[in-house]
Amino acid sequence: MNDQIADPSHDYRVAEALLAFWADAGVDACLEDAPIDRTHVAPAPAAKAVARATASVTPLVQTGDALGEARRLAASATTLDELAAAVAAFTGCPLSGMGATQAVFGRGNPDASVLVIGEGPGAEEDRQGQPFVGKAGQLLDRMLASAGLTDRVFITNTVFWRPPGNRTPTPQEQAICAPFVERAFAILKPRAVLLLGAAAAKSVLQVDEGIMRLRGNWRDWRLAEGAVSAPAMPTLHPAFLLRQPQAKKVVWADLLALAARLDGEMLEPDS
Ligand code: URA
Repeated sequence: MNDQIADPSHDYRVAEALLAFWADAGVDACLEDAPIDRTHVAPAPAAKAVARATASVTPLVQTGDALGEARRLAASATTLDELAAAVAAFTGCPLSGMGATQAVFGRGNPDASVLVIGEGPGAEEDRQGQPFVGKAGQLLDRMLASAGLTDRVFITNTVFWRPPGNRTPTPQEQAICAPFVERAFAILKPRAVLLLGAAAAKSVLQVDEGIMRLRGNWRDWRLAEGAVSAPAMPTLHPAFLLRQPQAKKVVWADLLALAARLDGEMLEPDS
């Protein structure tokens, strides 16, 4: 035992085992560049209140700056390729500094009649720089193909950098990225929008209902300026379907309703 501790390669193996343990537990991102001093003595309650108050002011200012920058960059793009470049140049989303390796904007037909919006990139998307290329994306592709929609979609997300540990993006992170999502909508002018999962549906439609109530029902998505609008259909996220395959049938009904609407029929899915 003592020999093992003295052996430097043992320390290395222990560190590796510890990292593997954390990775198995889902901890796969390092959030801070510098270590946190947890031995620091807690400040007095009054000092804490001051720190809380300033923390809630600073992000607001930063959010305002970032939002302004996002709007300016998004407005300068006139094509989806230019928009992808604008997203890549944007440094104001907090997620871009939380371990994501690159911006992930969109893939698909730049003349698509359907804009598909997911939640945010996962690990595989972060590696490849394309949305929905992991297991959930492969399932999405199979379902779109079965509904005859493959060449009729352009796919993006509410945020363009992988949230650490694949957590759900916060409403603030989604709001900072929203000018790019809205610009994609304005450039593409799709005939319909498919919203994958609760986080996408709530962020785009600005509603607070659960996805089980929202799915399968058409809502109007209209930009503030009123120039662009389209019917939007929330449905369940394909990652959810990987865990709950029995729910595929309702998503299938939603996709058929979407395809029927594009083809001019008004077929309402059962909700
Ligand atoms: N889940 C999403 O919401 N988006 C992706 O791009 C991949 C998985």
